[in-house]
Amino acid sequence: MSTWANLGLQDSASPLMEQLIFFHDHALLILVMITVLVGYLMFMLFFNNYVNRFLLHGQMIEMIWTILPAIILLFIAFPSLRLLYLLDEINEPSITLKSIGHQWYWSYEYSDFNDIEFDSYMVPTNELSTDGFRLLDVDNRIVLPMNSQIRILVTAADVIHSWTIPALGVKVDGTPGRLNQTNFFINRPGLFYGQCSEICGANHSFMPIVIESVPINYFIKWITN
Ligand code: CUA
Repeated sequence: MSTWANLGLQDSASPLMEQLIFFHDHALLILVMITVLVGYLMFMLFFNNYVNRFLLHGQMIEMIWTILPAIILLFIAFPSLRLLYLLDEINEPSITLKSIGHQWYWSYEYSDFNDIEFDSYMVPTNELSTDGFRLLDVDNRIVLPMNSQIRILVTAADVIHSWTIPALGVKVDGTPGRLNQTNFFINRPGLFYGQCSEICGANHSFMPIVIESVPINYFIKWITN
């Protein structure tokens, strides 16, 4: 999870988030190179005293500085598209979790098993335990097995919500009347925190998501109880 002064991305807990971080760094590197080059050019222009009195056109240089940026943009566009389709790919999920956004809490259904559904509310500050995280912990966590493909179906009962877990690279809108689908793979155990990220009303900030990633045998033990 994010803590104080953590302005960058969180450590990834899934292969897709790892790819997203790689793409972010790639795009940022191109951005820095362009900024430095253009910045240097603009800065040096201030100290230029020479004027070409016979300058009327420059077909060649105009060709170069039109085509070159277009090619540079392709180096961002193609990896971006690759990632977009990678995020949309479904790879034989072993478990399906359905999450439904409400004003203002999430409810979950494990549709592969009978009668496993529950609501997940934020723990209010005055009821928080000493090791709890304020505005981030919930009363009923989602338990999911690590090292397995998980499908997640997202919808909403009232207004648009968004089921967002930064460490897993998951962000899906829950829209009334629609059932959105995505999938992820958690590659380590731990607690992964998320929040609703679609402005959904007065308590939008107070409907967090907590995933408890555990080994598969612990998950089976949890699901059978
Ligand atoms: Cu639900 Cu914002």
